[in-house]
Amino acid sequence: MSVLVSPSLLSADFGNLRKDLEMINRSDADWLHLDIMDGVFVPNISFGFPVLKYVAKYCTKPLDVHLMIVQPEKFLTNFKELGAASVNVHYEACVHLHRTISQIHELGMKAAVTLNPSTPVSVLDDIIQDVDMVLLMTVNPGFGGQKFIEHSIEKVRKLRKMIDERGLKTLIEVDGGVNIETGKRLVEAGVDVLVAGNAVFGATDQEAAIRSLRNL
Ligand code: DX5
Ligand code: ZN
Repeated sequence: MSVLVSPSLLSADFGNLRKDLEMINRSDADWLHLDIMDGVFVPNISFGFPVLKYVAKYCTKPLDVHLMIVQPEKFLTNFKELGAASVNVHYEACVHLHRTISQIHELGMKAAVTLNPSTPVSVLDDIIQDVDMVLLMTVNPGFGGQKFIEHSIEKVRKLRKMIDERGLKTLIEVDGGVNIETGKRLVEAGVDVLVAGNAVFGATDQEAAIRSLRNL
């Protein structure tokens, strides 16, 4: 199976959003990654429900929601109503992570836990069996187009080992600074899903960029 690719809408042309969504629909992209920022958990604000309503209306790919917000549990129902396939919540933003993960599942969505670059994979010891996916941040969350943090490769290897040793099916997703070069090494280290913003939307041929990442 080839690696899954989830282009991040954050790097899209918001003046021509419909056009970019149609490109995603035509492309081999597996999911569409949606970065929700509140200006509190991360030092940036992205887009909210008035925009998301149209993204959900025009996008035919499963929506992979990445919540970079405090108290993500407050908005889970809204994302269910939007039609999200999966919801990623940050470990650092959830006081009652197990409860939040259960709520996402009760709503019928896939649940993922996200770790910041400085959060070790060892914190997953008592939650990994309950999540469908782990999202490892390979940059500090908040902005597109940042430089890949090298240590992430080692972290992916550690997580791959943890998942395999326990016989789990948990997917590993990575987000930040992913391009053909870093993507190749991440796939070799055991990643299942690549999120890519700049590497897709910054390319001259965006559909070809998605295809190349998918064939790594
Ligand atoms: C950053 C976001 C990413 C971002 C990635 O906080 O979570 O999804 O869009 O952008 P690139 O791929 O350009 O680093
Ligand atoms: Zn993201």
